[in-house]
Amino acid sequence: MSITIRDLQAWKAEGRRWAMLTAYDYPTAQIVDEAGIPVILVGDSIANNELGYPDTLPVTMDEMLHHTRAVRRGVTRALVVGDLPFMSYQASVEEGMRNAGRFLKEAGANAVKLEGPEVELTARLAAAGIPVMGHLGLTPQSVNQMGGYRVQGKTDDAADRIEREALALQEAGAFSIVLEGVPSELGRHLTKILAVPTIGIGAGPHCDAQVLVFHDMIGVNARTPKFVKQYAQLRTEITRAVGEFAAEVEAGSFPDEAHSYAGGKVYGGGDRPA
Ligand code: KIV
Repeated sequence: MSITIRDLQAWKAEGRRWAMLTAYDYPTAQIVDEAGIPVILVGDSIANNELGYPDTLPVTMDEMLHHTRAVRRGVTRALVVGDLPFMSYQASVEEGMRNAGRFLKEAGANAVKLEGPEVELTARLAAAGIPVMGHLGLTPQSVNQMGGYRVQGKTDDAADRIEREALALQEAGAFSIVLEGVPSELGRHLTKILAVPTIGIGAGPHCDAQVLVFHDMIGVNARTPKFVKQYAQLRTEITRAVGEFAAEVEAGSFPDEAHSYAGGKVYGGGDRPA
């Protein structure tokens, strides 16, 4: 059975915690889905983690749709959320509606995520049958406005503002809200007062759910933020495997008989050109 936003609502009521991960491609989506992760985010963080950009700003709608389609093909159970990229929804509600619709219509996503207190757009999308995941606190698309990737909501005023935004998004119909880079106490407070699930990333242990970027979690990225726990160190392992392959090719020990095809026409002569 596929996961729906109704399952997430029921889990909030039961106090059941859950995990979300990013995926940007077919094999990763298959692995994450088969491992039982209920929600997969095709995040605009693909910009930094796959495409080599310094931040999330350059990634386009067409790139996001291309990768969301690949993820969709790899998933049978998880809820797939497409992340609206920078300037795909900020200019007007109409443009946001059209782009959000493309995620469902052209890429098979089940929901969209957007950053900031986009209350009117959230209400219009929810009314149109497009589930919206909000994203508050440290919103990477506003890195230039924030003056860097800084923890948000540290002062009373800033915490109150995030609380107002979260309540407004919930009221507008958001089915969940990502809280990124906020003090744990704010994460705890918002999780307590909101009826929809909070999904924390650098927001402490009290959120209903936790999300990490897949590449951070498996240790592929060279550098990771403080809130990341690496559950594997695949950068080291991949580097070892690549080095071993190159060394075996250079030494002539790969491919051996076990990795070659026998039979066919027999030719005379030596192994290599003279
Ligand atoms: O794009 C992304 O990966 C995200 C998560 C960090 C929540 O927005």
